[in-house]
Amino acid sequence: MALSVVWFITAALSFVHLTPLTSLEEEYHFKQWMQQHNRVYDTEEYYHRLHVFTHNRRMIDHHNAGNHSFTMGLNQFSDMTFDEFRKFYLWTKPQNCSATKGSHVSRTGPHPESVDWRTKGNFVTPVKNQGNCGSCWTFSTTGCLESVNAIATGKLVSLSEQQLIDCARNFDNYGCLGGLPSQAFEYIKYNKGLMTEEDYPYKGHDDTCSFVPTLAAAFVRDVVNITVYDEKAMVEAVASLNPITFSFDVTADFMHYKEGVYSSTWCKNTSVSVNHAVLAVGYGTEENGTPYWIVKNSWGTAWGKDGYFLIERGRNMCGLAACSSYPLLLV
Ligand SMILES: *[C@@H]1O[C@H](CO)[C@@H](O)[C@H](O)[C@H]1NC(C)=O
Ligand SMILES: *[C@@H]1O[C@H](CO)[C@@H](O)[C@H](O)[C@H]1NC(C)=O
Ligand SMILES: *[C@@H]1O[C@H](CO)[C@@H](O)[C@H](O)[C@H]1NC(C)=O
Ligand SMILES: *[C@@H]1O[C@H](CO)[C@@H](O)[C@H](O)[C@H]1NC(C)=O
Repeated sequence: MALSVVWFITAALSFVHLTPLTSLEEEYHFKQWMQQHNRVYDTEEYYHRLHVFTHNRRMIDHHNAGNHSFTMGLNQFSDMTFDEFRKFYLWTKPQNCSATKGSHVSRTGPHPESVDWRTKGNFVTPVKNQGNCGSCWTFSTTGCLESVNAIATGKLVSLSEQQLIDCARNFDNYGCLGGLPSQAFEYIKYNKGLMTEEDYPYKGHDDTCSFVPTLAAAFVRDVVNITVYDEKAMVEAVASLNPITFSFDVTADFMHYKEGVYSSTWCKNTSVSVNHAVLAVGYGTEENGTPYWIVKNSWGTAWGKDGYFLIERGRNMCGLAACSSYPLLLV
């Protein structure tokens, strides 16, 4: 009796051992990651997340072993499938954002080889974190207006994303389901102002509008769209004016971006496929000749390179030139 129990356990263990979904080493890495990210799951969830994590980790290792212009790494999203990620962090409502003919006025003349508004002065606020809400468009908007404002006034003030989530719906924006920076600037223009982060703090979920006119802190005179797919005009605008918003198509290989110049064959490049808005704060060229944008994201500083990423410039990578915009300040 006792022997047969031992035999059964041994047989069961060797069966488990012969068909390892995840190795002990992989499980160890998962536990380390859980600790690092303060994750706690019940038993069922644990095995599911272990499986997803291991799948992601193998994909990352495989990518990093190859010859790519960027590396991947584990981050706060490593226990999620891309479908889950998309639901929580990207626009779920498709938008056609293109401006057939933008109002950006081209400036002729040579532009610097590289520009980085983070080092030109105190013009860019620290990287923020949108949390579980498809509100990237509000961070792209505030990031841009914060910089435009700072360049004009010398004062860098963090502005309210929550006001845009709660109050900008009449301009074709959908709170945590998505929106467009150009339409958010439009709202700020007609609303006569945007409040500060301090006065209208971030909650990360849809709520009722509580704009207080006397506390408006930044004002928009007009919105400038850059003509669809005119990436040269984007360079010009960043070189001669200020950081600009743009949107692009985020696919599964972007979720685990760590550093280097992101370039992808997975993403689409048209104005109807973009699903994430960000802020171009500069551009440059790699030693090997690859041109890139320097981009501020809104997934916290633990993601990517201190919250930033580089993406290939000059060929409308992932549709990044489909819908770029910036505001003109009302001072
Ligand atoms: C890596 O890729 C680059 C660019 O595609 C190519 O020029 C280079 O030869 C590749 N290196 C190796 C070792 O395959
Ligand atoms: C997107 O909008 C542009 C400009 O309004 C229009 O020309 C184009 O047909 C639209 N595309 C789709 C797929 O709706
Ligand atoms: C800018 O683009 C947005 C989004 O496509 C559009 O709604 C808006 O009308 C455009 N504004 C101008 C001034 O072209
Ligand atoms: C999208 O990519 C395809 C394939 O590289 C290219 O032929 C096409 O011109 C691109 N379209 C745009 C709008 O950039």
